[in-house]
Amino acid sequence: MKTYSTAASLRAALNTGRRAGKTVAFVPTMGNLHEGHLRLVQRASQHADIVVVSIFVNPLQFGANEDLSSYPRTLAADKEKLFAAGAQFLFLPQVSEIYPEGMDSHSKISVPELSDDHCGASRPGHFTGVATVVAKLFNIVQPDTAVFGEKDFQQLSVIRKMVRDLCMPINIVGVATARADDGLALSSRNGYLNADQRRIAPVLHRVLQETREAIACGYDSYSKLEQHAKISLNKAGLESDYFTICDARTLRPVDLDTEEVVILAAAKLGSTRLIDNVTLNVN
Ligand code: PAJ
Repeated sequence: MKTYSTAASLRAALNTGRRAGKTVAFVPTMGNLHEGHLRLVQRASQHADIVVVSIFVNPLQFGANEDLSSYPRTLAADKEKLFAAGAQFLFLPQVSEIYPEGMDSHSKISVPELSDDHCGASRPGHFTGVATVVAKLFNIVQPDTAVFGEKDFQQLSVIRKMVRDLCMPINIVGVATARADDGLALSSRNGYLNADQRRIAPVLHRVLQETREAIACGYDSYSKLEQHAKISLNKAGLESDYFTICDARTLRPVDLDTEEVVILAAAKLGSTRLIDNVTLNVN
């Protein structure tokens, strides 16, 4: 696996590959890699000859009181895992490469229709930060395919819409959420949990599943289900941020056109914010 820290050196290497007829799949990450990330890398290798992974803790997507400075950085272990998972190129840009001095701070990509609710309501500007960095990384890597996790369902929706709205010629692939045996979605932020919190954390997925089962059984009073779920979370010691049953395509309330429902949830355990979701088909 080769590591590049400048866009120019990565582009030159990728151009050599492209001239030899090779296709490129891309997996953007913020590092501290776990099995969930590695599944994306494995999926990427099924789609293209060259797999590029980036590790970049993107300041633009962190709010003022969030964990940018304490975000776990574990580069040596990440490199070993990526090599074993079959990544060929690792891109490790500096902040100054992605946000060069003199850049207009208003040069950003926003996808407001899908960004303003759910996580976006609690984290203003977050999805603009994500869309902007992903667009920049796409421009540097110019992949044929890019792979994202369904764990961050709203993020995946924002990226799909950005690619469609801005005519980016990139195939976006979503990969199912990798979970611990007790159902907790794997996340770099799980490392912040102490032993007691780690015992409580799987309740988030359990309550999502119970709600999905209730809908599958025909229970259609969604606001009552949402209310009930929030109470269950709070009783278990999770401070519910949002718990919303919505249309998986629009992320808006379910209506007669809805074919797939997604239940999106976020909750805090101490200062750690956990997110998760489940989906179900409704026709
Ligand atoms: P990060 O949190 O590092 O996640 C990188 C990718 O891994 C995302 O597509 C995310 O959805 C996926 N992922 C994380 N946990 C997963 C799990 N348990 N199962 C499956 N996939 C999982 O998401 C980001 O970084 C950033 O916002 C980024 C897209 C890199 C832009 O900065």
